[in-house]
Amino acid sequence: MLKGKHIILGISGGIAAYKSVTLLRLLIKAGAEVQVVITPSGKEFITPVTLSALSGKPVVNEFFTANTGEWHSHVDLGLWADAMVIAPATASSIAKMANGVADNMLITTYLSAKAPVFIAPAMDLDMMAHPSTKRNIELLKSYGNYIIEPAEGELASHLVGKGRMEEPEEIVKYLSRFFASQQELKGKHVLVTAGPTYEKIDPVRFIGNYSSGKMGYAIAEEAARRGANVTLVSGPVSISTSIPNINVIKVESAQEMHDHCVNIFPNCDYGIMCAAVADYAPVEYCDKKIKREKDEIPMIKLVKNPDIAAKLGSIKQPHQTLVGFALETNNEEYNALDKLHRKNLDMIILNSLQDSGAGFGTDTNKITTYFSNGAKIEYPLKTKAEVAKDIIDSIIKK
Ligand code: C5P
Repeated sequence: MLKGKHIILGISGGIAAYKSVTLLRLLIKAGAEVQVVITPSGKEFITPVTLSALSGKPVVNEFFTANTGEWHSHVDLGLWADAMVIAPATASSIAKMANGVADNMLITTYLSAKAPVFIAPAMDLDMMAHPSTKRNIELLKSYGNYIIEPAEGELASHLVGKGRMEEPEEIVKYLSRFFASQQELKGKHVLVTAGPTYEKIDPVRFIGNYSSGKMGYAIAEEAARRGANVTLVSGPVSISTSIPNINVIKVESAQEMHDHCVNIFPNCDYGIMCAAVADYAPVEYCDKKIKREKDEIPMIKLVKNPDIAAKLGSIKQPHQTLVGFALETNNEEYNALDKLHRKNLDMIILNSLQDSGAGFGTDTNKITTYFSNGAKIEYPLKTKAEVAKDIIDSIIKK
């Protein structure tokens, strides 16, 4: 899977840098083209001479070459790469990446990288367990980066605990698995709905909800990373995606979302209904701002919106998989199962507003999935990017 892949190997300054030499050799042996980028303190642990000899490329460690003034473009490097691996990633580099402190070539390259980024932390157990490191790692995960968890074992300090950089062989396996996963949905078309819908009352008011679109966008991005052709029908949100093979169709109302989905779904293999669709819309749109009348409360007559998931469920073909969401505040399991059957879904993802960290606007979610064959899987609280991975894994397994 690594043959011909362009990989940036970022090395920061920790004892585990000696393992980066083996990692570099294994990547080259697997057929990858590797460009090493090293931090100033990384050079204290391992010399650029060794790394450039093994990679066959000069090691990048400064913004420009002092004697010639030659500029090393981190932007070009970021565009060249199919993956960036930072191993070892020290507490300091992790903190800089999490907060965009671009004071060396490794961090600027990380910030410019368009490709997936894999981070293999290595540090002493107390540094690893410190709340600031933990928070920075969570931040990096929430940006969609992959953390190659450190192993437990004897550390350079002779203390024993979590902080040993994962072994180079395991990192190579991790990368190979990742590139294999990029083929999993190749040739498949996935429809995702995301965000709220706005139902217009007058030129300045609408009926809407708090959905941020983060979960739906994360699902669309994960499906695209697995090689799918993704159409994302999105209600009004303040986020965007930069992943190339996602066709984003922006809509405002439930009716517009419905009309696009009904057109697109027949050509899809999967439909994932993540949008928080407004249940009702005003019967009439008032084209002038409704004025406040003295002592009179205006009445807005509502009409039921189409249920997009139920409609797609009714036209679903045997080769298609349809997934819905249930955001509940009470009777969670009962309501989720009711929706699963009533809308003819293959899977429903329950998130309860009773769970802190789950639901609208947050960067995390806690889900339970129910399948039409009666199976149920409960997951712990995770970032929305990780939840999206679990959901895509589930539909692929199905
Ligand atoms: O019935 P309820 O709104 O709770 O169902 C939630 C599921 O149905 C979600 O997957 C949501 O995207 C979908 N839905 C829809 N069209 C509606 C209402 C909900 O597609 N009008």
